[in-house]
Amino acid sequence: MIRPRSSSARLRTVLLLLGVLVLATSCGWSLWDSPMTTVRPKSDFGKWIDEIFMLISWTTLVIFILVEGALVYACWRFRDRPGAPIPQQVHGHTPLEISWTIGFAVVLIIIGIPTIKIIFRTQEAPAATALKVDVSGHQWWWEFRYPGLEVATANEMHLPVGQTVVFHLHGPDVIHSFWIPGLGGKRDVVPHRVNQITLTPEAPGEYLGQCAEYCGTSHANMRLRVIVHPAGGFEQWVKAQQAPPTEPTAPLAQQGKELFSKAACVGCHTISGISAGRIGPDLTHFASRKTFAGSLMMSTPDNLAKWIENPAHMKPGALMPNLGMTADQSKAIAAYLLSLK
Ligand code: CUA
Repeated sequence: MIRPRSSSARLRTVLLLLGVLVLATSCGWSLWDSPMTTVRPKSDFGKWIDEIFMLISWTTLVIFILVEGALVYACWRFRDRPGAPIPQQVHGHTPLEISWTIGFAVVLIIIGIPTIKIIFRTQEAPAATALKVDVSGHQWWWEFRYPGLEVATANEMHLPVGQTVVFHLHGPDVIHSFWIPGLGGKRDVVPHRVNQITLTPEAPGEYLGQCAEYCGTSHANMRLRVIVHPAGGFEQWVKAQQAPPTEPTAPLAQQGKELFSKAACVGCHTISGISAGRIGPDLTHFASRKTFAGSLMMSTPDNLAKWIENPAHMKPGALMPNLGMTADQSKAIAAYLLSLK
């Protein structure tokens, strides 16, 4: 025999349901409002994906309401009541089984046809006029090269608004996934093959991205920023990037340049005219970037000095070795790097 529920148990259930409701609505709100939201896309590619997402969401919402509605109705209508007879026992209902099989096939067609269309559309070859960007996913930072423009940068990509861009995705070490939620994606970055994404940013602004495939200790610290320029801004940026690095004037930065040139730094990093290393990020215009180390930290003198002194302390598993720099040496190199506008 089932005991009737006490009023305090009922109250607990109601409070629990209210809590779930509050949590669910706040998740929904942050989904809409966060800087990495996918539901306010700012590119053609993002909008296509969003259309499919919304189609699936609304279709499944209708199914959810119908199924849960039928369930709640059945629970209420056929609930146990004192003295009630056992309800009529049935087994199987051929017309019903045929109709819901057809119903689900129709739902699959409603979702499947537009999805397949979008899959093909997002795989189309880009126009020859598209801007090309070679993206390399490294443990744990992003490298961006603009073939033909002779520009190389890291973690922060610059694009012109309204111009179609094709990203060629290279994986020099392990599998990563390139994802800028506001502009669409994501797509895997796979060693020994070159995947690509084509999209056209539709609004200037700053878009945050994140590696979306577990790739080792600092996977979560493998971030990126995309700066979409209004008309003319991109060309200015390219011009500044193509210029030779600024010569440091402050004594501390000059000392830093001296230290950098003689240390193992040169084996991994390029600074145009100073070094030609290709293992780590190109630092020629380091100070033109707001962030460093997989876009994990703001490029401040303090952060940078701490990073040079002990990279793994700042980003777990960092592949940049600890070169045993003293605090003063690190400060000097930081000052030099921050002079490279
Ligand atoms: Cu790269 Cu996760």
